[in-house]
Amino acid sequence: MKHIPVSKPLVFVTRHLPDAVMEKLRSAFDLHVPAKDRPLNKAELIAGAKEAEGLITMLSDLIDDDVFSSAPKLKIVSNYAVGYNNIDLAAAKTRNIAVTNTPGVLTETTADLAFALLMALARRIPEADAWVKSGQWSGWAPTEMIGADIYGQHLGLIGMGRIAQALARRAAGFGMTVSYFSRRHLPAALEADLGVSFLPLPQILEKSDYLSLHVPLNDSTHHLIDRKALRQMKHTAFLINTARGPVVDEAALCEALEAGEIAGAGLDVFEAEPSISWPLLRLNNVVTLPHIGSASLRTRETMGFMVFDNLRALFSGKTPPNRIMVD
Ligand code: DGY
Repeated sequence: MKHIPVSKPLVFVTRHLPDAVMEKLRSAFDLHVPAKDRPLNKAELIAGAKEAEGLITMLSDLIDDDVFSSAPKLKIVSNYAVGYNNIDLAAAKTRNIAVTNTPGVLTETTADLAFALLMALARRIPEADAWVKSGQWSGWAPTEMIGADIYGQHLGLIGMGRIAQALARRAAGFGMTVSYFSRRHLPAALEADLGVSFLPLPQILEKSDYLSLHVPLNDSTHHLIDRKALRQMKHTAFLINTARGPVVDEAALCEALEAGEIAGAGLDVFEAEPSISWPLLRLNNVVTLPHIGSASLRTRETMGFMVFDNLRALFSGKTPPNRIMVD
C-alpha cells in the first residue's frame, strides 16, 4: 500500500516557549520559530503569519486586521496569556479566525506575585536589600528601614476574578480585611467563604491601605486609576498593578508618587512597556518588575500545553477548549 504523508499544520510561534512546550508543539505541527528570541515588529509578525494556519502569540504582539489580511490561511490565534487585549477580536470574528487564551492556569502564580509586591512595598525589601549590599549598613538601629504593617490592614481589590479571589485568600492568612469593587457582586456564599465585602469604587479608594488591580484592559478600564482616583487614596496607601499597565494613568501616578499623595507602588505592568516613565525607576518607594506575573516554570509550561490543546482541537475539527467568544 502506498504511504501518503500527512502534512502537519504550519504554526508560527512568535517567541521561544519553554523546551517541553516546544517539543510537544513540534510533535504535532510544522513549527516555525523566529531565529532570534525577541519581540517582533509588525513587519516581522506579518511575514511570520503569511503562510501560517495557526499563530501562537504573546501579550506583546499586536494582532490586528493588518496581520489577518496578510495571512489568508490563518484559522486560529492561540494567545500565550490569559489577557487578550492585544488581539482585535472583532476583526478575527469577521474573518472566522478562532482566538484562544490560557485562563485559570496562571491564577495562583500571579496572585503569589501580587502578594510578593505587597510585602516588598510594606517592608521595603528591595530598598533594604540594596542598602545592605551597598555596604552602608552599620548595625541594628531602631529607626532605620521602618516599613508598614500588613497584619490588620485593609486590602482593596479592583476586579474580582480568579486572581483577585486567590489574592483575597492569601490576605486572609495574613490577618488583613478585604473588600472588592467589580462590575458584578460575587454570590453571597462566595463572599462569605473568601471573607470579602463589596464596596463602591470611591469608598474602596478611600479605605484601602493596599489597593490591587485585577481588571482586564478594555475601554471601560483604561485609566480607571486616574488623577482623581489617586487623590482619593490615603497618603499611606500602596497601589499594586499586576493586571495591565494602561489601567493606570502612569503620568498621574508619577505625579501622585512625587507629591507624596500615596505611599508607593508595586508594578509588574506599565502603560507602554517595556518603556517605563522615568520617575518610577528612580523612586525608592516603587517596586518595578518586568511583567513576570505568570513566570514560574510550571505555570509557563502549563500555559504552553494549553496553547497546544487549543491548536490541536481546532486542527482536529473540534472547538478549542479556551476559545474566546465575541458578542
Ligand atoms: C497574562 O497571561 O495575561 C499575564 O499578564 C501574563 O503574565
